[in-house]
Amino acid sequence: MRIITHSAEQTEQLGRQIGARLKSGDVIAFSGGLGAGKTAMTRGIAAGMGLGDDVSSPTFSLMNEYSDGTLKLYHFDMYRIPPESSAEELDFTGFYECIESGGVTAVEWSENIAAALPQGTIRIDIKRISDNEREITVNGDDRF
Ligand SMILES: Nc1ncnc2c1ncn2[C@@H]1O[C@H](COP(=O)(O)OP(=O)(O)OP(=O)(O)O)[C@@H](O)[C@H]1O
Ligand SMILES: [Mg+2]
Repeated sequence: MRIITHSAEQTEQLGRQIGARLKSGDVIAFSGGLGAGKTAMTRGIAAGMGLGDDVSSPTFSLMNEYSDGTLKLYHFDMYRIPPESSAEELDFTGFYECIESGGVTAVEWSENIAAALPQGTIRIDIKRISDNEREITVNGDDRF
């Protein structure tokens, strides 16, 4: 699926549609540069999962957990994780535990943990076209 959005609200809305289709064990790997809209889309995903839309960037906390619905959402920001980190180093973030917990895991800056992403990862690339336009490409299974 490839879509152009024209506002953060539209990106969030697309996130809601994706969030409503997610299931236990799903991993979402975002790519796209600074300010692409990864956190905005995660806000929509959380809302679509029934978790409300009070989602903020986990840049300093590394991971935020949202859990009032049936499915938990683990929201990572790997911006500060060096790309050459070993599996053992990444283990300290709780990433492996989260992806095996039966919730949904969404990862900003997944470029930095490319080798650790499991098979079946849903990939969402957000490309900045102009101030308000983004080209969003979703590669997953036939749900998307
Ligand atoms: N079409 C759009 N989709 C998403 N965000 C948009 C769009 N147009 C403008 N924006 C703006 O771009 C910014 C996206 O910020 P956001 O924090 O979601 O990006 P991010 O990819 O998470 O950045 P970071 O890499 O810093 O974590 C917001 O200020 C938002 O209002
Ligand atoms: Mg962000």
